Parts: sequence; C-alpha cells; structure tokens
Amino acid sequence: MKNFSRIILAAAACAVLLCSCGGQTRGQFAYDEEAPSICEAFKDYFRVGAAVNSWDIEDPESPQCKTILKQFNTLTLENESKPENLHPEENKYYFDKFDEFVDFCEENDITPRGHTLIWHSQCPDWFFRDGGGDASAELVLERIKDHVTTIVSRYKGRVKTWDVVNEVIGDDGQLRFSEWSRLVGDYDGDGDNFDFIEAAFKAAREADPDARLIINDYSLESSSSKAIRMYNAVKKMLEDGTPIDGVGFQMHIGNGIDYEAMKENFKIISRLREVNPDLIIEVTELDVNCYGWNEAPADVELTKDFLKQFSTTYTDVYKLLMELSDEGILDSVVMWGLHDGVSWLNNGHKNYPMLIDSDLKLKDAYYDVIALVK
Ligand code: G3I
Repeated sequence: MKNFSRIILAAAACAVLLCSCGGQTRGQFAYDEEAPSICEAFKDYFRVGAAVNSWDIEDPESPQCKTILKQFNTLTLENESKPENLHPEENKYYFDKFDEFVDFCEENDITPRGHTLIWHSQCPDWFFRDGGGDASAELVLERIKDHVTTIVSRYKGRVKTWDVVNEVIGDDGQLRFSEWSRLVGDYDGDGDNFDFIEAAFKAAREADPDARLIINDYSLESSSSKAIRMYNAVKKMLEDGTPIDGVGFQMHIGNGIDYEAMKENFKIISRLREVNPDLIIEVTELDVNCYGWNEAPADVELTKDFLKQFSTTYTDVYKLLMELSDEGILDSVVMWGLHDGVSWLNNGHKNYPMLIDSDLKLKDAYYDVIALVK
C-alpha cells in the first residue's frame, strides 16, 4: 500500500512538471518524424528559421532539438547573444553560450544570426558611465568600437549576418532617444544624430568585411511613417558611407493583415536599392499576436473562425514574402520562438503566436503555409 501511494505521488509530481513548464499548460512534447519540413519547402525562396535558447539545442535527441534540426536552416539566439549576456561588464565577455550556438549551427549546416550588437534594451549601464557621471561621446564611441570589433571578429566568417543595431527609430518616427543617441549625439557635426549607429556599422565591416550588416526594427511592415523614417535614415547613412547591407523587418504582427498596405511598406524600404543596389531585407522576428497591442482582453478562444484567421494571416504573410523573394530582395525569414509555450508573447494572457503549438505539434496553419509552395 505504501509503495502504491508513492507511485501515485510520483505520477502526480511528473504530471505537474509536464503541465507547468514554461508557465504554459502543455502535455508531452511530440516530435513528428513524418511532418514536412518548412525550410525544405521554401528552399528555393528563403531560409526559414527560429529564435531559440541554448537549452533547446543541448540534447540532439530531445524533441525540441530534433524539431529545430528538421524544420529550420537559420537560427537566432533569443537572448543569449545580447550585450547584457555577452558583455555585462567592461572588458569582460562571456562567449560560452554563443560559441556553442555557432558550433551547433556549423555542425548542422544552419546559418546563425547574431542578435544584437547595439540596443537600448538589455544593455548594461556601464557602457554609458564614467566614474560617477556620464561617459563622454568619445568614450562611448570607443566602447562601441571595442564591443563590436571583439564580438564580430571572434565569429569572422562564421556568423554571416548581424543585427548591428536594433530599434533605433522611435515610435514617434524620430531617431529613438536613448543613452546611445543622448551621449554620442551629432559627434561629427554633420547635422544628424546617427553617429553611434555609423560607428557600430563601420566597426562591424572592418571586423568582418564579408558579414551581412543589418539595421533591425519593428512595425516597418505596418506603419508607413516608420518605414519612411527608416528609409530616410538609411539613405542618409548610406550616402555618408555607412556600410548597411540590409534592413531587418521584425514583423511582430497582429492576427489579420492589410496585404496591399504591407506590400507598400516593403516597397518603401526596397527603394533603398537606388542607393545600395545590393540591399536586402530580412524578416527577423516573425510572430502573430492573438491580441491587439493595447488590449487587456479575456484569454482568446481557439474557435474555428479564429484559427481560420490565424492561418490566413500566416499564409498572406508568406505569400508576400515569396513575392519579395522572387524580386531577389529577401532570402531569410526567422520566426521569434520555437513554439507557443516559449513565446515572449505568453505574458499574462495565453497567446498562440507561432506555427508550432506548445506540445510541439505543427498547427494547421503550418501545413497551409507549406501548401503555398507548389
Ligand atoms: O534571465 C532572467 C531570469 O534570471 C529572471 O529570473 C527572470 C525574471 O523576470 O527574467 C529573466 O530575464 C528575462 C529574459 O527575457 C530571459 O528570459 C527578462 O526578464 C525578459 O525581459 C526578457 O525578455 C526578452 C525581451 O526581448 C527583452 O526585451 C524576450 O525573452 C525576448 O524574446 C525579447 O526579444 C525582443 C528582441 O530581442 C528585439 N525585438 C523585440 C523582441 C520581443 O520583445
């Protein structure tokens, strides 16, 4: 009888563990050997990838890792290659996780992305301080150069794409006010405040002349004013000799898109080819939020109508991305997370933003997207 109770207790504990992992209710992970591969399906259009974390790729036999290996041919580290993790203190770099990630990608013929060298968020304060006060513009620029050069040259020839700066255009359409822009300002006196951005791109180009250097931001696909601001900023920087190879569209979108409007916004950025004929666009963080950005609604119900809309959203987006690929301007699409259960959008409300559910099952939308490829 005692043993029987122990078995019941152990089984209950296992069930709790399985169901509460990642703050999401979920059953047992299921790796589907027979499922089609999305990166294989789109191989003539673009690479398809996901943002992952180091624990997802630790055990090649885990269902998560097997799914990654089968489904994706490009990967981004969701958090572990950001400044707060790579370079938390001056002159102290912690490369272990990123090293392992790059090794994993190389061993498995996957293109690793570097995310992100300079950002106003997840960036340690030491970059901006000197003694008790603000660092001078010279010191911040020196630190940018050291930071970018050290990281990019370590992975020279191995990490082929870098988000050099992230989210530098603010929601008001101006250059985002951040410690970077405040402290460096218009250092060269040419009338713009892009100097910290230019310094980062120049250092990256010098460290690895063959790496693809991206300026990455959100809402470019949905806000024409933001797309225009980005266009103007990149145009000016290109004309001033800043080596920008591409624009990253994060694409944290909502459920339902205006296809034509989105196409127009991509076109605005495509016109930068008039200044840099080789300029490319990358989709860097695609997901579909089930709620409006300012909503605080009841948890969404996965009704038939909702799921249909979700599928239409993803298929519309992929259709548009295929058109861009046909124009030769897009060759990489990364989704921001491996599955629903680990998405950053699972924050307070249950969210279902990915093409893979929290049991690692491929959703109907997944199959609908793959069916776009004849
Ligand atoms: O690691 C700590 C842990 O030690 C601590 O106990 C826990 C308590 O909150 O926090 C953990 O850190 C969290 C980190 O993710 C790792 O899970 C941070 O609080 C949390 O803020 C952080 O969120 C990340 C967010 O960037 C930060 O701004 C998300 O995971 C990540 O998906 C998100 O990614 C960004 C892209 O880099 C840029 N574009 C937008 C995108 C979504 O916000």
